[in-house]
Amino acid sequence: MASPLRLDPPEPTLNRAGQDSTTSYLRRRGRDFIISFYGTLRAIKLYPVEHTAVRRSLAELTEIATEIMNRERELELRVSGEFIFINATRLRLDLTNYASFGYLLRICRESGIGAIRIHDGISERAWLVFLSRLDSASSEPSDDRRESLIAHLATAGMTSIELGPPQDEATDPDQTEHQKDAANRTYTKSVALTKDVINSVRMGRTPSIKKIKRVVQGIVDQILNEETSLIGLTAIRDYDEYTFTHSVNVCIFAVALGRRLGMTKLQLFDLGLSALMHDIGKSRIPVTVLHKLEDLTNDEWLRITAHPWLGVLVLFQLKGQQEEVTYRAMTVAYEHHMRGDLSGYPQVIRPRTLSMTSKIVAVADGYDAATSRRTYQTVPYPPSAVLQEMRDNPRRGMDPVVVKAFINLLGIYPVGTLVVLDTFELAVVTSANPSFDALSRPIIRIVSDANGNMLVPPLEVDLAQVDGNGDYPRTIIKTADPDRYGINIGDFIV
Ligand SMILES: [Fe+2]
Ligand SMILES: [Fe+2]
Repeated sequence: MASPLRLDPPEPTLNRAGQDSTTSYLRRRGRDFIISFYGTLRAIKLYPVEHTAVRRSLAELTEIATEIMNRERELELRVSGEFIFINATRLRLDLTNYASFGYLLRICRESGIGAIRIHDGISERAWLVFLSRLDSASSEPSDDRRESLIAHLATAGMTSIELGPPQDEATDPDQTEHQKDAANRTYTKSVALTKDVINSVRMGRTPSIKKIKRVVQGIVDQILNEETSLIGLTAIRDYDEYTFTHSVNVCIFAVALGRRLGMTKLQLFDLGLSALMHDIGKSRIPVTVLHKLEDLTNDEWLRITAHPWLGVLVLFQLKGQQEEVTYRAMTVAYEHHMRGDLSGYPQVIRPRTLSMTSKIVAVADGYDAATSRRTYQTVPYPPSAVLQEMRDNPRRGMDPVVVKAFINLLGIYPVGTLVVLDTFELAVVTSANPSFDALSRPIIRIVSDANGNMLVPPLEVDLAQVDGNGDYPRTIIKTADPDRYGINIGDFIV
């Protein structure tokens, strides 16, 4: 039995993100779409198909769907747990849509439907064929119900409605393993493709936009599907592959952040591409300078700080392949070290406001760079200290709203943090707690007991769980340096 629906608090205004128009449009018209969807289902159930109530409902539903598609270039209704998403935007539940939301969640769950994708040219007839079948009582198991709906649509020649399976039921352990595998595959493939792209630029060739797009698409899909596993993988931070994993990590953080800030799938794609390519200008700087251990000479420092505009030049080569996308990527390559107060580099003479995409990438980039081990940074900073610095030191020039969203995304103790518990056990944080009010209570793996004996295998614990008296059996008291204990964090994450 599903838990009762919880109402969302009143809508906060989010003007800083610059995405409010799309988000609020999708929330408003997405809600209308759901109400109309529900109304049409009811009309079909109550009246004969030729009745004006049915006709009117079908016309309205088709009109709303077409309007959203024309504006957003896509229309996907996705059901995940207790939430409904239109494209990547979660609809807010309030008293006016309580009945329609609850009904839709139930009918999708019972029919084994996770997503309904609408394609161009959707007609009233297609809706009628689909909805009259959707609500018909059936004793078939849910997967078979979806299959039979798909077959029914195909027989009727209706190609404008596509039905996808449920995607994230994280409670089933098999499903969780499956999700981790999928995230692993996406991550490994992304690093390999990024390596190809960066190496081809190093050799003076034009990188293939197709390869870049493949990486970004994979990451966006994975984040929309289930973000926790992919974010967890960023904590591995492979020293030898830093250049490639850094680009992929920044892309993952940026897309997950963009999603929190309410961006649409298409905007996430553009953001991901810009994030993946933010340091592409470094491929035009000799590796001996990039990886130099000793202090840099003035000349070498100048070469490093040239990477933002060198990146713009590399991206110009892609311009012929896909103009609109690379324009945003050029801005990000140029602005990602500039800082909000313009105290970074390249130095600019005229006042300017950084683009939202640059602000997001700067946060993702700053975090990944500071928490990684590199040739000249053998001891990385603990993730929690980096987040605190980004939030509290204005000289970092990070956008406070973006940093706040980032802390919400990662939790106060991000994945990969080694922590000491009040039981004197040592543990590695493996994922943020999905519940927003448990930022300081992540999921951990205990690696050693109070006497310092290693636990094999490590014990997985959710710090938000209370015991029979309603108390927390374990609480984090501080973070610790993994090197001091000879712990390789990566061993505990995958
Ligand atoms: Fe950079
Ligand atoms: Fe970077």
